[in-house]
Amino acid sequence: MDSQALTIELDDEQFEAVLGENLLTSLLNQGANVRYGCRAGACGACRLYDASHCESILSCQTTVTSSMSLTRQVLAEFSVFSVLSNVPLNDHSIELVLLGPSDESFGDRVSVAFLCKALSKERPKTSLGERAHFYECMALNPVGAPLKIVLQKDHLSDEDWWRALALSAEDPMAVQLLAGSRKGRLLFEMDIADAPVVVIASPDNAMFEPYWRDALLDYTPSFLGHFSLFANQDLALSLADDALISFLNDALANAGGASLRLIYHGQKVSAKEWAILLRSLRIHPNQLYFVR
Ligand code: FES
Repeated sequence: MDSQALTIELDDEQFEAVLGENLLTSLLNQGANVRYGCRAGACGACRLYDASHCESILSCQTTVTSSMSLTRQVLAEFSVFSVLSNVPLNDHSIELVLLGPSDESFGDRVSVAFLCKALSKERPKTSLGERAHFYECMALNPVGAPLKIVLQKDHLSDEDWWRALALSAEDPMAVQLLAGSRKGRLLFEMDIADAPVVVIASPDNAMFEPYWRDALLDYTPSFLGHFSLFANQDLALSLADDALISFLNDALANAGGASLRLIYHGQKVSAKEWAILLRSLRIHPNQLYFVR
């Protein structure tokens, strides 16, 4: 290799380039499969993501000055939000409040990713390289309030968990919203207004209790409590827990004959497994709602 030859990684392929060479020309000359159009910086077709510098570049307008690690991008559109507050809830979860163009509210799903600080608010819409990982979360804020989410250590890579811990006010984060979906409909669509309601959470969702409590107290005067299933490799076994059965019997008694609604916040216990417990308590399966 020439002493001035540099290495260009493009996804899984490696190419060489000479210092000072045009990046797009170099890649095309070596047979790389890259899109391009105007070759004048106008059309955007040649955009690649420079993972070393956390920025997207127009390859036709880029002079090679060092070795590069590039990816053919564009996963999804996102908006850049800024951190309003970052509050550790415990050793493995952090509550984030994010300011940005969102009308999401409790129960809506959003996906967030960490951005290099270099990607600033002056560039609110851009493409994101494949190396940024989006994490799906539930919006926890009431209608009209800034987006609130909880990040859990178990769901993040080690690197992103450290990034989460290091976040400070005004840091940027990428947020993908569910464009076109009806927002804030979770509780409405359950048809639980004014009904007696309990929430039963999987162990990893136990920390959401205060958020459920706030959301439901706004929605029904008959919120009858929250129960966290105990951690067990076989979560179905945790449905046989005496404490859960006693909690549900108390709720049924407090419901005063009205139809008790159950919200299961988790994924691992199937409807079939729930049906066995519900049948023994004379609760109809359609009184149970699943929220992942
Ligand atoms: S080819 Fe059109 S901007 Fe680069």
